[in-house]
Amino acid sequence: MPKHILVLHGPNLNMLGKREPQIYGKLSLRDINTALEKKACAAGFSLSTFQSNHEGALVDRVQEALGQIHGIIINPAAFTHTSVAIRDALLLHDLPLIEVHISNIHKREAFRSQSYISDIATGQIVGLGIRGYLLALDAMMAILTDKEDLM
Ligand code: DQA
Repeated sequence: MPKHILVLHGPNLNMLGKREPQIYGKLSLRDINTALEKKACAAGFSLSTFQSNHEGALVDRVQEALGQIHGIIINPAAFTHTSVAIRDALLLHDLPLIEVHISNIHKREAFRSQSYISDIATGQIVGLGIRGYLLALDAMMAILTDKEDLM
């Protein structure tokens, strides 16, 4: 059975491509999800994606995944800065966890530099645009195969 990676997207990320394109780029969430699925599949992993504008729906998805997945990549979007509930749900899992932000949250309004996720994450990728998701996937697959080389 291939190892399974769950990718979670928080509120308003369904509007990628339309939403503040100068910050978040022109590609849609579907474009990103397709690229992630293809890359994971080509490397022998399976990957599923889930987006919600609702905090409880994200908590439910994280709970449902218990025992079913090997790693989590999450862009909690605005919930990054507010959600103890998503943090607590993620803590149910003892798995590699990568936090992604398209923009550099440390370079924007002060409230965006606080993350309820970063201190429980394996690592964080911020400010590299949507390619941050693909970098996170590379890192996750390397972690899950125990790879330490630089290629
Ligand atoms: C974001 C940054 C958050 O502050 C914001 O609320 C988002 C997107 C990012 O990917 O840069 O919705 O997580």
